Amino acid sequence: MEKTTTDLSVRIAGMTLRNPVMTASGTFGYGGEFRELVDLKRLGAIIVKGLSLDPSHGNPPPRIVETPCGMLNAIGLENIGIKAFRATRLKFLQQLGTPIIVNIYGQREEDYVALAKIVDEESDISAIEVNISCPNVKAGGIAFGVDPTAAADLTRRIRAATSKPLILKLSPNVTDIAAIARAVEQEGADAVSLINTITGMAIDVETRRPKLANITGGLSGPAIRPVAVRMVWQVAGAVSIPVIGIGGIMNGRDALEFLIAGASAIQVGTANFVNPRATMDIIDVLQGFMQKQGISRVKDLIGSLRLDG
Ligand SMILES: Cc1cc2nc3c(=O)[nH]c(=O)nc-3n(C[C@H](O)[C@H](O)[C@H](O)COP(=O)(O)O)c2cc1C
Repeated sequence: MEKTTTDLSVRIAGMTLRNPVMTASGTFGYGGEFRELVDLKRLGAIIVKGLSLDPSHGNPPPRIVETPCGMLNAIGLENIGIKAFRATRLKFLQQLGTPIIVNIYGQREEDYVALAKIVDEESDISAIEVNISCPNVKAGGIAFGVDPTAAADLTRRIRAATSKPLILKLSPNVTDIAAIARAVEQEGADAVSLINTITGMAIDVETRRPKLANITGGLSGPAIRPVAVRMVWQVAGAVSIPVIGIGGIMNGRDALEFLIAGASAIQVGTANFVNPRATMDIIDVLQGFMQKQGISRVKDLIGSLRLDG
């Protein structure tokens, strides 16, 4: 039998990706760290560690705890800062020919705006992913991403500062994630990615102390996948911009769940710590699945969930 030729390409926010598999911010360093392990030219896109205006040391240790089917992290967004990133990391990334997406975060709207303006000058950066799961100091530390008005205001200001494709990365720590997705879509987001980590906590019963120095942390890994799939499905039904699915994707079949739920692409996070080649394996499995099922274009899988009897 002749093999189906497979087209894994997807279009997101004006970018054409060779396949829907991207790396999730904070789990793949600045990309170069994985050069010996992963064929970086095969990835759909590389999303780098969250960048702030100034370098950040993050939180004190312990910053990571293993949990059933996942992990809690309170790294605190440690990073080298946007200036050092441009000076020391971008050159390596740019010669790969793989779209580079920069993830940004700040504590004030102005921080995000300043970061967006800097990224806007860089022709080698394909898009900006905005982490809105960060405390807004002006709102008493409530995250931008938990309030539709705050998320909309932030999106409007960043939109005015850059012509790059904008991906708003949504927080799952909300009651109605579809409302937040609609709010950022209205203000010019080109795509949404979800989910970021779910806030959690673990306690050492002997010492009665929190296991993380920060007390709480972000839960990631397979434990959060059903929540993420549900949220992707809800958001995909609520907006017309593309949705990027994230959360506990460990293998190709997990990735397929997200595509079928309505994601146009996916990101691989915690899996990179377990199997640094997870992204490569996922691309292979997607291709194999399509060949076996006689599906020629991955686009035909997106949102193909069957709900009829
Ligand atoms: C150690 C670690 C660091 C992370 N750093 C960032 C970050 O800098 N910016 C961001 O938007 N998300 C960050 N995330 C969240 C991931 O990108 C992803 O949304 C989340 O972990 C869920 O996906 P997963 O279950 O596949 O890991 C981080 C996650 C982990 C585990």
